[in-house]
Amino acid sequence: MTGASGDRTGQCPIALDHDFYADPHPAYRVIKENGNKPTPIVLKTGMAYLPPGLEAWLVTAYEDVEFVLRDPRFRKSIDEAMPLFAAQSGGTAAARGSLLYNNMANNDPPVHTRLRKPLNAMFTSRSVAGRRDVVRSAALETLEKVAGSQTFDLVKDFAFPFSISVISRTLGVPDADRGTFHGWVQTITGDAPPEILRRDAGLMVEYLRGLIRGRRESAGNGTDDVLTLLATSLAEDEAVAQAYALLAAGYETTANLIVTGFLTLAAHPEQLRRLWSDPGLVPDAVEEMLRHQSPFNLSLYRYVTEPVELNGVRIPRGAIVFLAFAAANRDECRFTEPDSFDITQPHRDHLAFGGGIHNCIGKHLARMEAQVAFETLIERCPGLAVHTPDEEFDWKASPTFRGLRTLRVGPGPAPGGWEREQ
Ligand code: HEM
Repeated sequence: MTGASGDRTGQCPIALDHDFYADPHPAYRVIKENGNKPTPIVLKTGMAYLPPGLEAWLVTAYEDVEFVLRDPRFRKSIDEAMPLFAAQSGGTAAARGSLLYNNMANNDPPVHTRLRKPLNAMFTSRSVAGRRDVVRSAALETLEKVAGSQTFDLVKDFAFPFSISVISRTLGVPDADRGTFHGWVQTITGDAPPEILRRDAGLMVEYLRGLIRGRRESAGNGTDDVLTLLATSLAEDEAVAQAYALLAAGYETTANLIVTGFLTLAAHPEQLRRLWSDPGLVPDAVEEMLRHQSPFNLSLYRYVTEPVELNGVRIPRGAIVFLAFAAANRDECRFTEPDSFDITQPHRDHLAFGGGIHNCIGKHLARMEAQVAFETLIERCPGLAVHTPDEEFDWKASPTFRGLRTLRVGPGPAPGGWEREQ
């Protein structure tokens, strides 16, 4: 063990690997049985700036997660964190660096405030509500493409193209480019080797730079999308990094919520039937999916600026800390019967969108999108059922973005079957 992670209470760190990415709850149960205290972990695979082999701490109790979200000693600054990642994984900081990561999600005030403030007005609940019809059109158009098929892939044919279309329209990415960035984002947020990661991060930078420059040239021509706002209010590199944060955080989590939400419904057939026969339950069902499935499994990094005592454990200065939103959302000190899934009793105080100053800027959009996705599926696919057997589930290799790479769905035993509305 190296650097600040050396003082790790003599415990053997829990390895976060593919089993954890598929289902984190067995590991969380072990931590809960041991008092639900901050626990040493090691990341087996890399993701974006995080190198494989990174030693860190995991915070799992609801109360502790809430505490860390609001305590400035748990800090975000990508420039200061890169050498810590390197030191605590035995690697070099330069191997995984990119200007893409220098965005609001990875920095604290004053940088965070300067980057986030201009965007807030575009993501309020009122501003998002005004886009509901456009989002519904995107859902219908996406589903229309598979309407004649016997079965389709809920991930590749619906959830991803739909949420990519919504975030592209929100930002102002040209129609023809929708999905251009999808492969690059998958590489960056997956477990690709550093050389592939740097190649795709470079392509992403150049692509976004082109869009931002185009917006600068056309500013004042009446375009009022998010890219224009970024291009006219920030330096070019900052605008590129912000556009990346909104894109990368903005569609994958929502797509994963739709897919894992449906998968959970399919595992609870009485709830699936109930929702499909009463679409008025959709908003409550989406909240319960957010809590139960927590598509943002682990938070982004924070590091500790001075030793901090948390729930009886001393976390040393310079240690990297991740918050386990998925564990906090099933903490029995906060929720009754936290492992059960009940769309009629949603717990709205979940932490699926984080909290404190870094709370999800896209939460209103994500909620509305997921609601529209389920309303549309209920309307157009009366007997939707999962066709992929459990043993073939292929989960993304990511500690943060929990989602399936593919899920075959089609007509099931529910009354009506898969029927296209004529
Ligand atoms: C179901 C969908 C979503 C979930 C579960 C989710 C979850 C989260 C969480 C937990 C955080 C805080 C991470 C941390 O504190 O380390 C966060 C931050 C963020 N999210 Fe989301 N998100 C979703 C959708 C979106 C969408 C649609 C957008 C884009 C419009 C978006 C953009 C962002 C950004 C830019 C941040 C960083 C905010 C900051 O640091 O100030 N997210 N999200």
